[in-house]
Amino acid sequence: MEFKGRQVIRASRETVWTALNNPAVLEQCIDGCESFTAVNDSEWQVVVRASVGPVKARFKGALTVQDREPLKGYRLRGQGEGGMAGFGEMTAVVTLEDEGADTLLVYAAEAHVGGKLAQIGSRLVGSVGAKMADRFFARFNEVLTEGGGEGQRPTATAAEGPGSTAWTNSGAGQANVELTVNGQPVRRHVDDRTLLVELLRRDLGLTGTHVGCDTSQCGACTVRLDGVAVKSCTVLAVQASGGEVVTIEGLAKKDSMHPLQKAFVQCHGLQCGFCTPGMIMSSDGLLRSGQQIDHASICTALEGNICRCTGYVNIIRAVEQAATEMGLPCNARADTEGAR
Ligand code: FES
Ligand code: FES
Repeated sequence: MEFKGRQVIRASRETVWTALNNPAVLEQCIDGCESFTAVNDSEWQVVVRASVGPVKARFKGALTVQDREPLKGYRLRGQGEGGMAGFGEMTAVVTLEDEGADTLLVYAAEAHVGGKLAQIGSRLVGSVGAKMADRFFARFNEVLTEGGGEGQRPTATAAEGPGSTAWTNSGAGQANVELTVNGQPVRRHVDDRTLLVELLRRDLGLTGTHVGCDTSQCGACTVRLDGVAVKSCTVLAVQASGGEVVTIEGLAKKDSMHPLQKAFVQCHGLQCGFCTPGMIMSSDGLLRSGQQIDHASICTALEGNICRCTGYVNIIRAVEQAATEMGLPCNARADTEGAR
């Protein structure tokens, strides 16, 4: 994944260049940095604590400076290990230019991740990476201008990372998000690391969307986002900004349950009910997809949802019944033996 950005730093090019090569300054600017040690002029050992969606880990790694051209820029190569969380590699090219009395800093980075981080999805990882870069340079600007008598002139542009464009970075890791939830317009000021599931449950009180794991495996948090079933613990609120979200609370029409809700009740597709909102929202994604509904497509649609008590036979029956009631082409099996 790639991300890039530009920052106008309120300091001369000499000052910016010196700071870019000063481990003490860099340590202050990296979010979650626990240590930053110079091995030599061109190699630094770094320990950073970071959260990427549901994955939280302590990453240990090395940064190496290459192609150093004094006052013009350098190439930074990094690699880090986060234990069970996985690993990452990154190359960033940083260049400096005069911008009047200030300095224009331009960066372009490319990153690759593996392990659990890779399972989260490049969109979320890239978005978090872009925001970390944005915060790094915003802090870098603050450090260079603190005590310099140059005031708090705002920094220039935010990082141009992947993800939605319908949010505004209001500084200090905060963002304004606007979206439609169950037909109602919603606007909130949130920490830019807020997950969509946190926005729904904590900020909007929509606790029908459940959290059953922190590894994006259980599917209890599934909601509809722009017509597609997504696990809301793997989506940042800022990524959903501008979108249309439907949760389990928004599925029924007035006093009438959705056919899926009725069918889950009638087919005994639940016991404790914890997985049920996610099961229904994933099934909703399938029924809206236009696919042929049959045993195989239902199993595929629900393979990211875990039920710990009911088993899957009655759940599959419920989806078949709902599809039939909705008049969708459904090739229901007489028996569902062999379902997971
Ligand atoms: S809470 Fe989202 S997949 Fe488990
Ligand atoms: S009904 Fe209990 S976990 Fe599925």
